[in-house]
Amino acid sequence: EKGGYATFMEKEINEQPHAVGDTLLGRTDDEGRLVLDQTELSEDDLRSIDKIVIIACGTAAYAGMVAKYAIEHWTRIPVEVELAHEFRYRDPVIDEQTLVVSISQSGETMDTLMAVRHARELGARTLSICNTHGSTIPRESDAVLYTHAGPEIAVASTKAFLAQITASYVLGLYLAQLRGGTYADEAQSVMKELQGMPAKIEELLGRMGRVKEIARFMADTRSVLFLGRHVGYPVAMEGALKLKELAYIHAEGFAAGELKHGPIALIDAGQPVFIVVPSPDTAHGLHGKVVSNIQEIRARGARTIVIAEDGDEEVVPFADEVIRIPQSSPLLAPLLSVVPLQVFALHLSTAKGLDVDQPRNLAKSVTVE
Ligand code: M6R
Repeated sequence: EKGGYATFMEKEINEQPHAVGDTLLGRTDDEGRLVLDQTELSEDDLRSIDKIVIIACGTAAYAGMVAKYAIEHWTRIPVEVELAHEFRYRDPVIDEQTLVVSISQSGETMDTLMAVRHARELGARTLSICNTHGSTIPRESDAVLYTHAGPEIAVASTKAFLAQITASYVLGLYLAQLRGGTYADEAQSVMKELQGMPAKIEELLGRMGRVKEIARFMADTRSVLFLGRHVGYPVAMEGALKLKELAYIHAEGFAAGELKHGPIALIDAGQPVFIVVPSPDTAHGLHGKVVSNIQEIRARGARTIVIAEDGDEEVVPFADEVIRIPQSSPLLAPLLSVVPLQVFALHLSTAKGLDVDQPRNLAKSVTVE
């Protein structure tokens, strides 16, 4: 049942090209327009949306953070992302022109379900991005966009995360087309690039040997930091969460721009830091800013493990390790950059002799508030 892999997690990491490819299947009609799964929302309803609020927990919330960058860029609709349990117990400013998008692998997470119910009571339109057909959250939502990652058994989410990101890109591109505007034309070409992502993920999975070795060497590490910027910021947070869950190591992810506002004080000799470097094409010179961050922490003794695109040579002088990912446009890069972090957590957990699929204290689906 594990398809020849030692753990479900390893199997699911390796299924990610399919999770992304299958989530994209059947999303375009004959005219090349994007289509949703079941929906009670009319195109007019969706045209009138003036705000999107994404609610989710854990890994799904990091997918939501990635979605914010992409959806705002393509649609110019303001997007907020909030942890479902925080959203539920405050007075959010939402109405029938708000689209509340929940993201959940299981569709049964109680915190997320309660937040969806709260949103409906307040009159919002609700759309569920979910991996489990017929589960409670999609049943209680106005519209559904199913991810097709297949069943995810390991407690730590991997392929569902990539599928959630993919589905939220599809949603953003759909809304961009529906509403017209600057990026409507771009939607087609981004869709095309998305179709090519499974092959890039496949290629990347074939390059993970060095990551596995690094993980083995680090079995005694007590703390690991993860830095990212732009869409790399949620990827850094996800890398830290994977490590906490799987290897019981103190791990923290933060926005690279925040370093000088405090976290740089944590850096001392030998501190391992993963840096998710933005694609050199990222707007506003963010690539150069992150390269400076790597330089700063290296000068203070950090051991820098840098995740950078093929061909990005600027990082090399400041990197103790460079993990290469295939090139992509900046907004799609999380589908690649998170993979080495998943593989790292998997192999560190294995090196420590821990239960990869069933980490202590955790349940696959958290059905209590
Ligand atoms: O089923 P859901 O996507 O709603 O679950 C949300 C979180 O509980 C889940 O992503 C959790 O953080 C995972 N253990 C992360 O690996």
